[in-house]
Amino acid sequence: MIFEQLFDNKSSTYTYIISSGKGREALIIDPVIEHTDEYIKKLKNLELKLVKVIDTHIHADHISGLNELNKRTNCTRIMGEKSKSEVIDLRIKDDETIKVESIKLKAIYTPGHTDCSYSYLMNDRVFTGDTLLINGTGRTDFQNGSSEDAYNSLFNKLLKLPENTLVYPAHDYNGKKFSTIETEKNSNPRLQVSSKEEYVEIMANLDLANPKMMDIAVPANVKGLSLDRL
Ligand SMILES: [Fe+2]
Repeated sequence: MIFEQLFDNKSSTYTYIISSGKGREALIIDPVIEHTDEYIKKLKNLELKLVKVIDTHIHADHISGLNELNKRTNCTRIMGEKSKSEVIDLRIKDDETIKVESIKLKAIYTPGHTDCSYSYLMNDRVFTGDTLLINGTGRTDFQNGSSEDAYNSLFNKLLKLPENTLVYPAHDYNGKKFSTIETEKNSNPRLQVSSKEEYVEIMANLDLANPKMMDIAVPANVKGLSLDRL
């Protein structure tokens, strides 16, 4: 299997290129528009044909590369069915599976950070978007976020996965590349709560500034802008 984890310094976003092997079909998760040329080059070097591209949710801190990649490769743009994007080709439902040859990703609806947040389980690993981060969890104070929903997504969905499941988030701000469900369950400070009310209380008191790109990125990602229209 080909599994590449790429990083955008500006937004600390992780992007994943996945394929069952060289010369085969590929999938990209959470691309950043400014890196489109880099993705295309990597795909070319590995003789990969990009067929699907997924955003875990509508991002507020960077412009997605979904639309630009679709323009250049004709790949299918996928998001969860609750996405407000106006340019998605395929809306995936909770528990449905996305296939790229022998690669299978099961969608898990994990609202809370936004109401359009989905995680994707692929064998031994899960792409958690901003729902579960390494040593943190996604904020819930905009884009119809809900800390009650986030608690449910975390404690009743993601933390119920096998403990050795690898966690690959959409961001990390401290240089960590992945974690496990077990590590997060035992040491993520946001998850050491004894009730939903306690979690809601923590999230209500974070007092975070809005992401700098938010007023540009959210509408751009809903409309699906490509590079020539930025
Ligand atoms: Fe986000």
